[in-house]
Amino acid sequence: MNVEIQVANEVHASYAEQICELLEISARQRGTGIARRSPDYIRRKIENGNAVIALAGHQLAGFCYVEIWSHGKYVANSGLVVAHDFRQKGLAKAIKTKAFNLARDKYPEARVFGITTSLAVMKINSELGYRPVTFSELTQDEQFWDGCHSCPNYDILMRCDKKMCLCTGMLAPSKLEEMEKKMVLDLTHMVVQVQHENQAEPAAAAA
Ligand SMILES: CC(C)(COP(=O)(O)OP(=O)(O)OC[C@H]1O[C@@H](n2cnc3c(N)ncnc32)[C@H](O)[C@@H]1OP(=O)(O)O)[C@@H](O)C(=O)NCCC(=O)NCCS
Repeated sequence: MNVEIQVANEVHASYAEQICELLEISARQRGTGIARRSPDYIRRKIENGNAVIALAGHQLAGFCYVEIWSHGKYVANSGLVVAHDFRQKGLAKAIKTKAFNLARDKYPEARVFGITTSLAVMKINSELGYRPVTFSELTQDEQFWDGCHSCPNYDILMRCDKKMCLCTGMLAPSKLEEMEKKMVLDLTHMVVQVQHENQAEPAAAAA
């Protein structure tokens, strides 16, 4: 069946309970925590255009939402989940890519980060340009780390003074940082060309 991936809007608010259930069941099966969110919280994300939903007809196939931290210095794509029947088909990658672009388009100055123990998510993040980092490079917003409360490993995080845990921290540059980097590369290319032309002159004169 065809799966449509789109930025969610108020039409999709009725999926909030089902999304929370899917997140809850998936977290229990993995034995790790996904920050527990209420249906109301998910509904607000959907209504504010800060979520991506995948639907096969009317059937929920997957979901992911955008969170803003440290007053817009960071964004995170959280709550990535794919319904069991739709796994291993590249759907998480497609949803995450859309959520990543949504986050960077809406918040171009914000770096994108995540923490995960999931190999699938590590692979997807790496392809999107995330790099593994220590927690010191991520948001220090207390509210973000409070989201780890529902994880069975929360005691480890606390014991390590929130400096490390079983999750890997991953960070991608903001859209602006990436654009600046591309401009520098383009300028470098131009400089190389100018040098080339200058070098060519004396040779031509000598000839
Ligand atoms: C993790 C999850 C979102 C992956 O969804 P998916 O649609 O099956 O993933 P994709 O098909 O897009 O696969 C992406 C990559 O991860 C790999 N992958 C998928 N599931 C995997 C798994 N269980 N273990 C290892 N690698 C996996 C795929 O082979 C693919 O790798 P490739 O690019 O080298 O081919 C899904 O299993 C899920 O919803 N799990 C429960 C919720 C969860 O763990 N969310 C992440 C919280 S951080």
